[in-house]
Amino acid sequence: MGYNVMDMQTQLQELAALPKDAPYGLSGAFYTDPDYFEWEKKTILHNGWHCLGRADEIPNVGDFYTLNLLGEPIIIVRSTTDTVQVLSNVCRHRGMPVALGSGNAKRFVCTYHAWTYGLDGDLLRSARMKNAGFDAEKCGLPEINSVVWNGFIYATLNDDPVAFAETLNELDNLISTYEPEKYRLVHSASEVWHTNWKCLVENFMEGYHLSVVHPQTLHGYTPTGLSRKGPSGAGFTSYFANYPDQASPRGHGAAGLSDEERRRSTLFAAFPTQVCSVAASLLVSLSLFPLAADQVEVRWTLSTYGDDLDADTLESRVALWNEVNREDREKLELMQAALSSKYATGGPLAEDDYEGTVRDFQTWLAEQAQLTA
Ligand code: FES
Ligand SMILES: [Fe+2]
Repeated sequence: MGYNVMDMQTQLQELAALPKDAPYGLSGAFYTDPDYFEWEKKTILHNGWHCLGRADEIPNVGDFYTLNLLGEPIIIVRSTTDTVQVLSNVCRHRGMPVALGSGNAKRFVCTYHAWTYGLDGDLLRSARMKNAGFDAEKCGLPEINSVVWNGFIYATLNDDPVAFAETLNELDNLISTYEPEKYRLVHSASEVWHTNWKCLVENFMEGYHLSVVHPQTLHGYTPTGLSRKGPSGAGFTSYFANYPDQASPRGHGAAGLSDEERRRSTLFAAFPTQVCSVAASLLVSLSLFPLAADQVEVRWTLSTYGDDLDADTLESRVALWNEVNREDREKLELMQAALSSKYATGGPLAEDDYEGTVRDFQTWLAEQAQLTA
């Protein structure tokens, strides 16, 4: 059954206009309808800045990895010591991907007819191309707008994007004391979840479910009852998952952190597709790559600050986060199937400390929809 995307836009604006103390969630169709997903792909997702990973995943010149960003094959490469570039991974000759997987390259050689590109995308070699109409200078791999911010790599498919800083400057105030750019990568993984990308954003960003879904893994440190709404701004929202008084410290982290900052995890969403938890010694970031209305690739990284945590502790943190993600995934995949119900009309949301972030996301979605109307 196809829904009318225009009707859904009207519904979204109506929801966003509800009084602050009477918020309602989106109805199921927003998470299940293929036409709505296609609309999102062409608009809010196409225009958004997407976190692709951590800059220290590619520490050396020539280090690269490849991804598919909303159907676009891309290469993320360290092209000089201090430059990360995002390039189209489509050969300018006849369209072969020029890089596969990840690794280190001196240049990218297409496996079809051996056109050879520099790390910056310039076409360096193209044997036997003697036709008058051929101009090597016009056949470089297009560069995709990207920026490195706090150690994260972001890119947008929009060739004339909203300035990155405009959307996240205020978030910088919230997390810069943790010195996010100094965390070093410990673990990364990628998996496909059968859920809508927005369900995952909402799930990661609300503290309401913590004690229910994660009784063994998270409740002891970040119980629902201690969740507090954090600041929100043009392109983000946040909440604080506070640790109970009796919980022992979990690493010292950056010198400038307050005691309060050391005794909580700060969770933020950089809309549309990054959700992240930053704490004194641990940073966990999920990059979401929507594949279909009911499918999203989740690429997550776990990084640590300094030498606070020994190898065994880090290993147990990775295991813990694997388990937390499994617990969330199980719920979200069950919910996805139910969201197709005609009775999934969108229910009332809890107050700000527990689900205010869900409301912030909804407001952002409604604003984006208006911008593209
Ligand atoms: S398609 Fe790449 S060299 Fe022909
Ligand atoms: Fe969760």
